[in-house]
Amino acid sequence: MDVDSLSTDALKTHRRDQLIEWIKGLLATPFVLLSQPTAIYDDDESSVNIMAQSAHKRYSEIMRDVEQLIVDHIRHHRSGAQAASKLKLLVPSVGTFFTPLPLEEAFQFQDGKRYISSRRFVAPSFNDIRLILNTAQVISLLRGSRLELVTFDGDVTLYDDGDVLREDNPCISRILDLMRNSTRIGIVTAAGYTEAEKYYERLYGLLEAVAKSDPGQRLEHNLIVMGGESNFLFAYSSKSPHKLEPVAQEDWQLPEMRNWTEENVKALLDVAESALKNCIAAMSLPVSVLRKERAVGIYPDKGVRLTREQLEETVLVVQRVLEMSDAGKRIPFCAFNGGNDIFVDIGDKSWGVMACQRYFGGIDGSRSLHVGDQFLSAGANDFKARLACTTAWIASPAETVQLLDEIAQLSMEK
Ligand code: IMP
Ligand code: MG
Repeated sequence: MDVDSLSTDALKTHRRDQLIEWIKGLLATPFVLLSQPTAIYDDDESSVNIMAQSAHKRYSEIMRDVEQLIVDHIRHHRSGAQAASKLKLLVPSVGTFFTPLPLEEAFQFQDGKRYISSRRFVAPSFNDIRLILNTAQVISLLRGSRLELVTFDGDVTLYDDGDVLREDNPCISRILDLMRNSTRIGIVTAAGYTEAEKYYERLYGLLEAVAKSDPGQRLEHNLIVMGGESNFLFAYSSKSPHKLEPVAQEDWQLPEMRNWTEENVKALLDVAESALKNCIAAMSLPVSVLRKERAVGIYPDKGVRLTREQLEETVLVVQRVLEMSDAGKRIPFCAFNGGNDIFVDIGDKSWGVMACQRYFGGIDGSRSLHVGDQFLSAGANDFKARLACTTAWIASPAETVQLLDEIAQLSMEK
């Protein structure tokens, strides 16, 4: 195998989202043809305005065409003929969509905020398109009055990496607004602990705020926390010492999870631990190994930062070793790059979100939104949630706040 194809396959593909890259490519043509970089020294206001209007029109048309392709893709998928979808042909890695995406309208909303059409030097970017897709998803969910469950990732989504959800976190008031509107909330995090106290330490700001805002106890059990991707479920309860009580397994586990026996879990974690140790030896990684009930991971000494190359090499090696192993064929797992650590968890966020949907009485994927920061196809743990529900891909806690504000704004306009 030549080095180029190996590096393209193993090291690059997982760092790109093909649907977003493809849309970016479509928008690049009108950008190249219409943008007026010289107008900056021509001082010709009107030519700039005309450019912005033409670019807006052409970008809108392209987004409308993509919107139609997604409708066609959904139709083929529903009739079991996904291979015949034109979008699948153009973007082979594209998955399934739980709802249509009103991309033209979402583009216009984001253009009003980000002035994409007015730019002369910077083409429509990955981030522009990621945010347009998020807005389209939110519009689609709200239009059908269908936002029954919102699940959030923890690190990087609700708070900075490794931080905790403090009482002054701006997400809190917005999550409370959603809860008052009868939307159920789940926090689906990789952080895996067996005791409520540990989750309380990380999420106390939100838990205390719910307790304070709800003296009539209407929100009891409407907020849940799924830890270890899909392994430990706790529900908010004002009466519990740490505002969380464990939920009995029969109330949330899916039938397929019965196969996650102690024996199968141990076999998988043994393979993962040995693959991690091989990486530590091969690259002299300055890390410790942490084996837990449902996970195994490596993390560096305090103050040490692992490089991107060390993190990516380790996660790709471990994932591959597990995929090839017998243990990895028996139960699902998730190997991911946590920013400065690597973990392998039993199950993944698709199971985590589906368990939340089940706990709340069987919420459909098309009425459920997962918000997270890790949506690349390898080494990222929110990616799997796409199998269970609609998703929004944010890049920081500040973007989560913006997304929640968009939800509030668009639900008022409904
Ligand atoms: P998330 O972004 O909320 O999914 O949290 C991911 C982070 O949780 C990881 O990067 C780890 O630092 C931390 N963590 C703590 N315990 C576990 C575990 O059991 N599995 C995976 N990650 C864990
Ligand atoms: Mg995260």
